[in-house]
Amino acid sequence: MRAFLACGLRGAALAGLLLLAACGQPDEPSALVMPTPRFTSIPDVGYPLEAPDMALGARVFADKCTPCHGERGLADGPMVRAGAAPTPPKLAEMETSWDKTPQERFAFIAAGKIERVMPPWKDALPEAERWAVTYFTYTLHYTPERLAEGRAVWEAECADCHGQGGRGDGPKAADINRPVGDLTDPVEMMTLSDKALYNIITEGVGDSMPAFLENLTDNQRRAVVAYTRALGLVSPDAIGRPLPPDPTPAPATTK
Ligand code: HEC
Ligand code: HEC
Repeated sequence: MRAFLACGLRGAALAGLLLLAACGQPDEPSALVMPTPRFTSIPDVGYPLEAPDMALGARVFADKCTPCHGERGLADGPMVRAGAAPTPPKLAEMETSWDKTPQERFAFIAAGKIERVMPPWKDALPEAERWAVTYFTYTLHYTPERLAEGRAVWEAECADCHGQGGRGDGPKAADINRPVGDLTDPVEMMTLSDKALYNIITEGVGDSMPAFLENLTDNQRRAVVAYTRALGLVSPDAIGRPLPPDPTPAPATTK
C-alpha cells in the first residue's frame, strides 16, 4: 500500500496525472521512491485527486459527524449532549481552522483520536469523501455574506492578475515577470492555512503582488481569503450550509 501510494504520488508529481497503471516496480519495496517533500510533511497524507466537492462534504458531515459535532458544527450533537463523547472544538468557528492547513485537518480526520472518542475515518470513508468533509468543515464558517464580500474584493483587486476564476490568467498576468500561479490547484491550496493566505494578502509578495494592509480592511482581507479558497472547490454553493442529518437513526451506543 505504501509503495503503491508513493508510486502514485511520484507519477502525479511528474506528469500532473495519477499514472498508477504506468507506475513500475511494484514488487520492489525497498526502492524508496520518495514523493516531493511537500507531500510527505505529514505521514500518510496524500493530496486531493480532484477538487473537493462541498455538496458531497455536506452530505458526509450530516451523516457521519453530526452525532458529536452537531448539525451546524457547534459541538452539540446528541452523543455529546448525552455525555457519550467529550465536547469537541466548534468546527463552525473561524478560530478552529484559522492557523491549520487543510492538509493537517485531512490527516487528523484520517487518524482520529480514539482515546477522545473521535473515530478514525481512513478506512471508513473513501478518499474523495474524506477530502470533501475536510474542506466542508474547514470552510463551515464562510457565510454567504462573507463570500459575497470576498467576491466583490476579488473582482476589484485581484482578478486583473489572478483571473476571474483564480487560475492566474488575468489580463495583467502577462505583464508580470513571474507566473501568477493557479489558486485553484488543490495540491498548492491544501498546504496554505487561512492564516497563511491572510498574511500573503496583507503583506504582498515581493515586487510581483501588492500588499493590501492599507487598501483593504481586516474584514475585507478575511472575506477575500474565504472567496479565494472557494474558487478551488466544487459546488461552492454548499459551503457553510449544513444539511439536516440522515433521518435513519445511528446505531445505538449508550442510552
Ligand atoms: C463519536 C463522536 C464523534 C464523531 C462521530 C466525529 N467526531 Fe470529530 N471529534 C470528536 C471529539 C470528541 C473531538 C475532540 C478530540 C480532542 O479532544 O482532541 C473531535 C475532533 C475533531 C476535529 C479536530 C478539531 C480541531 O481542530 O481540534 C475534527 C476536524 C473533526 N473532529 C472532524 C470530524 C469529522 C469530519 C467527522 C465525521 C466524518 C467527525 N469528526 C466525527 C468526536 C467525534
Ligand atoms: C499586480 C498583480 C497581482 C494582484 C493585483 C494580486 N496578486 Fe496575488 N499574486 C500575484 C503574483 C505574481 C503572485 C505570485 C508571487 C510569487 O510567487 O512570486 C501572487 C501570489 C498570490 C498568492 C500566493 C499563492 C501561493 O501559491 O503561494 C495568493 C494567495 C494571492 N496572490 C492572492 C491574491 C489576492 C486575494 C489578491 C487580491 C486581494 C491578489 N492576490 C492580488 C499577483 C497579483
